[in-house]
Amino acid sequence: MQLNISPGKKIGEVAFGKEKLILRAIKLKDAEGCIKFFNKIIKEGARVLLAERVDLEAEKRWVKSKVEALKRKRALTLVLENSNGEICGIFELRKRTMLKSKVDHVAEFAVSVDAKYRGKGLATKVAKILFKLGKKFLKLKLIRSSYAERNIASAKLHKKLGFKITGRIPKGFKIGRKYEDEVLVVKELE
Ligand SMILES: CC(C)(COP(=O)(O)OP(=O)(O)OC[C@H]1O[C@@H](n2cnc3c(N)ncnc32)[C@H](O)[C@@H]1OP(=O)(O)O)[C@@H](O)C(=O)NCCC(=O)NCCS
Repeated sequence: MQLNISPGKKIGEVAFGKEKLILRAIKLKDAEGCIKFFNKIIKEGARVLLAERVDLEAEKRWVKSKVEALKRKRALTLVLENSNGEICGIFELRKRTMLKSKVDHVAEFAVSVDAKYRGKGLATKVAKILFKLGKKFLKLKLIRSSYAERNIASAKLHKKLGFKITGRIPKGFKIGRKYEDEVLVVKELE
């Protein structure tokens, strides 16, 4: 059966201690929530792809591209919203932009969780939900991802989710003034 996920669609609730977080698809109105979330992650110096704070116009364009990709079943971007209505996690699977390619069974995984919500199994729990949905919604067989070598939390998360290391790109990340290898990982979906 076909799975349909429209922008803003609620996927479910995820318990975090006593708090109930809402897991839902991204929607156009998320630009302000996303910019707040990403700028916090950048400020803490996390080993993520994004290097600089972004402005609202750029964030609106980013959110719009994600909403359009969701509608075209090229990507699945889910946000976690806390009880104050703030975004506290973003989870994504995205295919390459090329249509009808020979890599259409593959998507890239991206994940970030607000510092307040880390270390309690949240990313593991939500990523598993995302992968199940991604398999059906995007018709995936393979998920690829990567992380900076010294991003211990990300390395552990990927291992726990069943990713296997397939290679590395020497100096693939520039963190501050130093370079770090990018570790490439892949997970086959059952
Ligand atoms: C990576 C990240 C998403 C993990 O989120 P999380 O909700 O804390 O992850 P989980 O609680 O599900 O933990 C997954 C594993 O990582 C471990 N872990 C989490 N944070 C850790 C830390 N700071 N140091 C060491 N291990 C850590 C957990 O113990 C767990 O492994 P274990 O069960 O074998 O012990 C989160 O740290 C984050 O958003 N970091 C900043 C952005 C980022 O680096 N994103 C990934 C880019 S590739």
